Amino acid sequence: MHRITVISAGPGGRGYITAIALQKAGQCDVIIGTEQQVATAGHTPGQTVYRESSIEGIMRLIARHKGRRVGVLVTGDAGIYSLAQKIIERFGKEAVEEIIPGVSSIQVAFARVREPWLNVRVFSFHGRPLEGLEDILSCDRVAVLCDRENNAKAVLFALTGPGLFDEARSVYVCRDLTMEEERVLEVRSLEDIEGIETGRREIVLLIKKPGSGDKRL
Ligand SMILES: C[S@@+](CC[C@H](N)C(=O)[O-])C[C@H]1O[C@@H](n2cnc3c(N)ncnc32)[C@H](O)[C@@H]1O
Repeated sequence: MHRITVISAGPGGRGYITAIALQKAGQCDVIIGTEQQVATAGHTPGQTVYRESSIEGIMRLIARHKGRRVGVLVTGDAGIYSLAQKIIERFGKEAVEEIIPGVSSIQVAFARVREPWLNVRVFSFHGRPLEGLEDILSCDRVAVLCDRENNAKAVLFALTGPGLFDEARSVYVCRDLTMEEERVLEVRSLEDIEGIETGRREIVLLIKKPGSGDKRL
C-alpha cells in the first residue's frame, strides 16, 4: 500500500509554506521535492531525502517506497496545475493519504498587484503549446502560467497578434514571487514586451479595466 502525502510547498519563499505543511513534512519517512522545495521545507536527520524535479523521476521514487510514509512537495497549491493530479492518476486516490493545501503563486500574483482573484480564468502554457490566445483575450481577468520556453515575453508577443493592446487592460509580469529576486512589472507597450528579461518562474496577469467590459463586483 502506498502512503503518500502531497504537501503544497508554496511559491518558493520560506514565509509562504504553511506551519502544517512543515509539520506533515517532518512526519514523513521519505521526502521528495526539488532542490529549492527541500531547502524551503527542511528535513530531519532520520528522513530519506530526494532532490528530484522530473515527473518520471518522482513517480519512480514514489513507486520504490511503497509502504513508507512518502511526502511529495509540490509547488504552490496542490489543487491547481499540480503534480498531485498526476500522482492520483498513477497510484490511485487511495494511495494518497492526505493533500495539504498551500499558497498558490496565483494568489500571490494578485496580492502583489492589489487585485482580487475572484472570477479569474487560469491558463497554463507550462509544457503546453501556445494555443487558444483569442480565448485568453476574451476573459476579463486572466492568469497565465508560463514556462522557460513559453515565457512571459513569448506569451505576450503571441498575444499581440489577436489584439493584446486593443482593449484597456492592465498587463503584469510577476516573476520569482516570494523569492529574493521577485519582480513585478507592468507592461504597457510593444517596447515594454521587447525589454522583458526572461525569468524562471513567471505568471502573466491580464486585467480588463473597468468600463472595458469587466463585470466584477
Ligand atoms: C506547474 S505550475 C504549478 C502551479 C502551482 N500549483 C501553484 O499553485 O502556484 C508552475 C507554474 O506556476 C508559476 N509559478 C510557480 N511558482 C512561481 C513563483 N514563485 N513566481 C512566479 N510564478 C510561479 C509559473 O508560471 C510556473 O511555471
